[in-house]
Amino acid sequence: MKDKFYITTPLYYVNASPHIGHSYTNIAADCLARYMRKVLGEENVWFLTGTDEHGQKIQRAAEAEGLSAQEFTDKMVLVFKILWRRLNISYNDFIRTTEKRHTTFVGKVLEILYKKGDIYQAKYEGWYCVPCETFWTETQITEQVCPDCKRPLERVSETNYFFKLSQYQDWLQDYIKQHPDFIRPKTRYEEVLKFLELNKLTDLCISRPQERLSWGIPLPFSPQHVTYVWFDALLNYISAVGEFDAQDNYHSRWWPADLHLIGKDILRQHAIYWPIMLHALNIEPPKAIFAHGWWMIGESKMSKSKGNVVSPIEMSDKFGVDAYRYFLLRDVPFGLDGTFSEEAIVKRLNSDLANDLGNLVYRTLTMIEKYFAGMIPTVDIERKNKAAPDIMLKIRQLSSRIASVLVHPEYNFSFACDSIWELINTANKYIEDTKPWNLQRENKVEELKAFICVLVEVIRVVADSVWPFMPATAQSIIQQLGGEKIQKGRPLFPRIDMRNTGLS
Ligand code: MSP
Repeated sequence: MKDKFYITTPLYYVNASPHIGHSYTNIAADCLARYMRKVLGEENVWFLTGTDEHGQKIQRAAEAEGLSAQEFTDKMVLVFKILWRRLNISYNDFIRTTEKRHTTFVGKVLEILYKKGDIYQAKYEGWYCVPCETFWTETQITEQVCPDCKRPLERVSETNYFFKLSQYQDWLQDYIKQHPDFIRPKTRYEEVLKFLELNKLTDLCISRPQERLSWGIPLPFSPQHVTYVWFDALLNYISAVGEFDAQDNYHSRWWPADLHLIGKDILRQHAIYWPIMLHALNIEPPKAIFAHGWWMIGESKMSKSKGNVVSPIEMSDKFGVDAYRYFLLRDVPFGLDGTFSEEAIVKRLNSDLANDLGNLVYRTLTMIEKYFAGMIPTVDIERKNKAAPDIMLKIRQLSSRIASVLVHPEYNFSFACDSIWELINTANKYIEDTKPWNLQRENKVEELKAFICVLVEVIRVVADSVWPFMPATAQSIIQQLGGEKIQKGRPLFPRIDMRNTGLS
């Protein structure tokens, strides 16, 4: 079979509207999916996103609005879908954990694991963090606050069902050691391995009694319990793309996923619970999990509970969807935290987009209008190579340079942009050095033609390469280049004057 690429994003909780942090994961996934579609062909790429709709947090958010959980999630899911459309997110499938295809699948998994003896009943005494939907034992906490988010915990004492996580710890440790690129970036790999070396895993509580929480998937063997939201949600990655046969073997055209893209806040669930769940089901682990960093406002993580969220729609309205996408992917090396500010977007927009890319396209098209009445001249490859050997070499090398940083195990969007911009800037310098107005004056028509043809080639290759990052911009460049005759439009990215934005 030809290579395939299956990429997923986390399923977002629908208790509140998506902010920049959520849009970041989806923009990154979209960029990779688009890139891989170019490499492998449309039919060999599958990009899954969706929404996580069960659990206490959602139930409470619905109650607060006086809606049933179903009404509330139906309403909120649209907010996500509208945003993804606006940001040009080209997902192949959108899964809601409340859909029948998912709930039936989760029921089946629970039955398999129960039959196998990997799920058992016991009393749970401990703490629960509703915002993180996480159980904590007495020994894991120091005060009565969540070790992750520092918010107050709720005491829980109830009969529940447990999944035998502890039984598979050795297997997981070995697996991780044998697969050094399984968790990326390297720092996260080391973090998970160290955690496993220093801690003994406890079994995972995977249920909540109906009387405390009714909004969830009932356990098939104990309908008075619903499934713990994380256990339910992680299974989306396989429920969306395959099924079990009568012998309980899982089949899928897409599994194993090639990449689970997540934020570093949900690494434990993805790098520990998830591979163990799969192993218990006799299913291969995903090929890679990449945990990116956080967008911060000043010193703190952007999050609804901190009240410091910035709306992706507002930013796209203000600066344009593509400038927004580009900024997120370019400004911070993937994996590290980034500080979000409008000033930082304006800086990128003015320099990389308006000055470098926008100018290159605009100047070139203007010269084609001026010197060749809007018709793109043609010259053979030798003449181009002779006119600008360095640039022609860079053009030939670009796709392999991008490939070497953008695909597994690097996923370095920023470096990929660096190589594209290196070419753009070399071309801009070529214009300055060549001084085409002199060629025109001296009537050196052949040189002028070769010069323009080199630039057109740069622009075509740049449009093709920036397409995964800025699909609309790429399209607009191609359109402006037209067929034989160009169709020059307005500059791609008008500069933003800081003084007019109230930012200076
Ligand atoms: N529902 C769970 C995930 C289940 S996956 C089977 C969840 N949802 S979430 O809506 O709270 O957050 C999901 C993701 O949003 C994070 O993992 C991360 O990818 C992204 N981000 C949320 N806030 C963020 C920042 N401030 N910065 C960057 N990304 C962050 O957890």
